[in-house]
Amino acid sequence: MSNALWGGRFESGPDAAMQKFSTSLPYDSRLWRYDIKGSIAHVQMLARVKVLSDEDAQQIVAGLDQIASEIESGALNFEGAPDEDIHSFVERNLATRIGSVAGKLHTARSRNDQIALDVRLFLKEALSAVHDAVLEVQKVIITRADEHFDAILPGYTHLQRAQPVLLAHHLMAYFQMFERDRERLQEAYRRADVLPLGAAALAGTTFPIDRHFVAEQLGFARVSENSMDTVADRDHMLESTFALSLIGLHLSRLAEEWVLWSAPEWGFITLDDRFSTGSSIMPQKKNPDSMELIRGKSARVLGDLNTLLVLVKALPLTYNRDLQEDKEPLFDAFDTVLGCLEIARGVLETTKFHTQTMRASAGGGFSTATDVADYLVRLGVPFREAHEIVGRVVKYCEENNKELEDLALFEWQSQDERIDESVLETVGVDSSVAARQSYGGTAPDRVREQINRAKLLMREA
Ligand code: ARG
Repeated sequence: MSNALWGGRFESGPDAAMQKFSTSLPYDSRLWRYDIKGSIAHVQMLARVKVLSDEDAQQIVAGLDQIASEIESGALNFEGAPDEDIHSFVERNLATRIGSVAGKLHTARSRNDQIALDVRLFLKEALSAVHDAVLEVQKVIITRADEHFDAILPGYTHLQRAQPVLLAHHLMAYFQMFERDRERLQEAYRRADVLPLGAAALAGTTFPIDRHFVAEQLGFARVSENSMDTVADRDHMLESTFALSLIGLHLSRLAEEWVLWSAPEWGFITLDDRFSTGSSIMPQKKNPDSMELIRGKSARVLGDLNTLLVLVKALPLTYNRDLQEDKEPLFDAFDTVLGCLEIARGVLETTKFHTQTMRASAGGGFSTATDVADYLVRLGVPFREAHEIVGRVVKYCEENNKELEDLALFEWQSQDERIDESVLETVGVDSSVAARQSYGGTAPDRVREQINRAKLLMREA
C-alpha cells in the first residue's frame, strides 16, 4: 500500500490482512463523481481566497477532470487498486498525472469532512431518485383506482371480512402511505442539504476558507454550524434509512395482500406473467415471486437501519473509523428500495382485478351487519341494544345457513318488531358502501374527492 497519504511517521505499510480489512474502496468507489466534484469546488475556493495560485488550481482541476473522464470511459478503474478509499485513489492518480502540485489539493481539508461531503452529495441525488420512484407508484395507484372505481371488495379486520369497501378506497390507502413517505424523503433531503466541507479533521482550519462559496458551487442550502458535530454526525443517513425502511414496510404490506389475493382461495387478482415465475417441478404453478421478494427484501432494509443505529450508538466525538461501516448498509438500503419500487410499479400496472369475485366475497360473512345496527339506531334504538339484536340475527343466519341478504322481512321482524322493509335495502353491499359518507369514508363521493385531491398533489409534486 502506498504510504504517501500518512507520510513520514510510518516506516512500513500495513500488513496485507490489515490492508484488506481496512479498505473501503470496493464500495466507496461508487462515490467517485461526488468526490471529484467536491475536490474541484474546494480547489476553486482555495484559489479564490488566495491559498492556492490560479495556476496551481487550474492544473489540479484539469487533472481531476482528466481522472473523471478516464473513469467514465473505463480507461481507469478500481480493480486491484492499492488505495484505502476513494479519496486516496483520486489523490494518487492525480499525482501520477500532474506531479507534486497534486499534493496541494488536500490543503485545509481532511478525509473526515471529505467523506461527509461525498455522502451528503450522494444522499441528495439518491433521495430524489427514490422520491420520483415513489411518485410513479402513486400515479399508477390513482390510475388503477380510477379504472375500477365501481369495484367493491371486503374490507378486513383481523383478516376476517369486516365491511365492504371500494377497491379504489383500498388502493388509495396505499397512496396515502406513500404520500407520507414522500414527505419523509423531502424532510431527509432538507437535513442532508448542509455543506460539511471546511470542518476539516474536527476543529476547522487555520486557512481563510470561504465555506459559503463552496456551498453555492455545490448547491447546498446551508453550511454546517459546528465542525465537531459535522464530522461526527450521521443523523441524515439514519433518517434517510428510516424513511426507506417505512417504504419497505409499506411495500411489504402491499406485497402480502397481493400474495393472498392471487391465491385461488381469494381469487381477487391475477399477476401478469411478466411478474410471476413458474416451478421447476410443478408444471401447473404460477407464483407471485415478485411480491414475495418485495416482502422479503424489506427485511434487508430494516437490517440496514438497525446496523446504522447500533453503529452510531455511544460513539465518542468526533470521527471514529467505525463510521466507515456506514456506507454499505446505506447503499444497500437505497439500492434495495429502488429495486422494490420499480417492481411494485410494474406489478400494480399489470395486475388483473377480478371484480366479480371481489364483489361476491364482499357480501358474505355478514359484512353489512353494522349497517343494520346503524339502521336500528336511526329508529331510536340505543347502539348497544341494536348490536345485540343484529348479533342474534347473525346467529339465526348461521343456524339456518343464510346470509343477511337472504332474509325475508318476517324473519327480520321475528327478531325485533320495530324493523320495517327498508332493512332489506340496508343489507345490500352497494348501499352499505354508499352510506359511509363521513369524510375519509368509503362512499363513492368521498373516494372521488380523495382521488381528486391526490391528483392535485401529483400535479404539484
Ligand atoms: N474511508 C473513511 C470513511 O469512510 C474515510 C474517512 C476518514 N478516514 C480516516 N482514517 N480519518 O469513513
